[in-house]
Amino acid sequence: MDITHLEQELELLRKATRTLAAGFATLPPYVEAFDGARIGAVLDETARRLRDSYPFHHPLYAGQMLQPPHPVARLACALAQRINPNNHALEGGPASSALEKEAVAALARMIGWDTHLGHLCGGGTLANLEALWVASRLHPGRRVLASSQAHYTHQRLSALLGVPFTAVEVDAEARLDPAALERELAVGDVGTVVVTLGTTALGAVDPLPEVLALARRHGVRVHVDAAYGGYFRLAAAAAPRVAAALAAIAGADSCVIDPHKHGLQPYGCGCVLFRDPAVARFYRHDSPYTYFSSDELHLGEISLECSRPGAVAVALWATQRLLPLEPAGEFAAGLDASLAAARALYARLRAEPRFLTVLEPQFDVVAWAPAATQASEVARRSRQLFAAAARQGLHLSVAELPASLLARRWTGVSFDTQRVACLRACLIKPAHLEWLDVLWERLLEASWEERSSSEP
Ligand SMILES: Cc1ncc(COP(=O)(O)O)c(C=O)c1O
Repeated sequence: MDITHLEQELELLRKATRTLAAGFATLPPYVEAFDGARIGAVLDETARRLRDSYPFHHPLYAGQMLQPPHPVARLACALAQRINPNNHALEGGPASSALEKEAVAALARMIGWDTHLGHLCGGGTLANLEALWVASRLHPGRRVLASSQAHYTHQRLSALLGVPFTAVEVDAEARLDPAALERELAVGDVGTVVVTLGTTALGAVDPLPEVLALARRHGVRVHVDAAYGGYFRLAAAAAPRVAAALAAIAGADSCVIDPHKHGLQPYGCGCVLFRDPAVARFYRHDSPYTYFSSDELHLGEISLECSRPGAVAVALWATQRLLPLEPAGEFAAGLDASLAAARALYARLRAEPRFLTVLEPQFDVVAWAPAATQASEVARRSRQLFAAAARQGLHLSVAELPASLLARRWTGVSFDTQRVACLRACLIKPAHLEWLDVLWERLLEASWEERSSSEP
């Protein structure tokens, strides 16, 4: 763990905390209870317990879409937690609500919306729940369609909302297949199509422009799940087809983007956005003990959750202040570095006959497997390689991928299983690009170990 700047970080926090405290200097002095010795002992014990974690903060961790928050995010979050604002109502968090509105408006502008309705929430699942809830109010009882590679929660959320869900086939690139979608739309009874821009397993990008055209013809709503891929709207190096899909979000009805994935935020930060602010009417409710401080919009009036952490909004605002959401900016350069790392890893994997690759990466997820002649053997060896890589200090993940998708490209493999375990790397940290040689060396080491234990 890099603690090179720890003293400087603590100094910055000390200074900012004093600035914050000065805002309350007219209050009579109040000293909160503080038992440094006992707190210190518990903190030390906490740190020891936390050692039982994978090294999420390090570039050798490439398992899931997970990275530590930017220092400005963790410092701003800690600063705001001194007062612990609640962004439910303006009386709970006047300043932090204003910062949330600004931060969310910047995300809306990033996807091309000058007007919008939106707010932060606990994460992608909750954000998708709100989008599907609004969709189900507009099209009660009508089906939700999403690709078979969409996040598993769309099906569960639809069940929760009491609306039928249908999975639509994907094409050879794991994208929602427009022909299959058209067949479902022709059957009728569809209220909403979920378009995923960056699927969780493979980073596949559904063809949003084509889906929008089809959906408009059938009077169907389009929700974009860009929980993982949304920020790539700012990347310069996205492939033209991917860039076109991201640009087309401007024409969708709702969109989810997770700042706690690519937005450098601590967990607990998702965002739901609606293009038409009039959907606020569905949220209307009475809360006899809140909303008394102002006639201005309280975020609790447009959110399913009641209490929400103001500190999370403050962290996002501060991050966007330091790293504005602009194309060719410093933040966008980090996304381009991740794209370059994924492409470089894919190129190396393809050049090695010992590996089978899956899809050319659209964002920064790469999947592959050790070559073998039977799918069950590929899966067994993937799991062994996963464990061998972990012994080399390289942390990957395992993704179960449908045989139907792999069979189209792994022509030398006979398929005796429906799903095949493959290796997966999420090169979400910009530092993964500089570390690629190290990652690669360790992967090859692990592969030698795996091969020598697998082959007679
Ligand atoms: C595309 C997509 N949608 C939704 C989710 C769910 O987000 P969360 O885990 O923040 O609830 C994820 C999580 O990885 C995702 O990748």
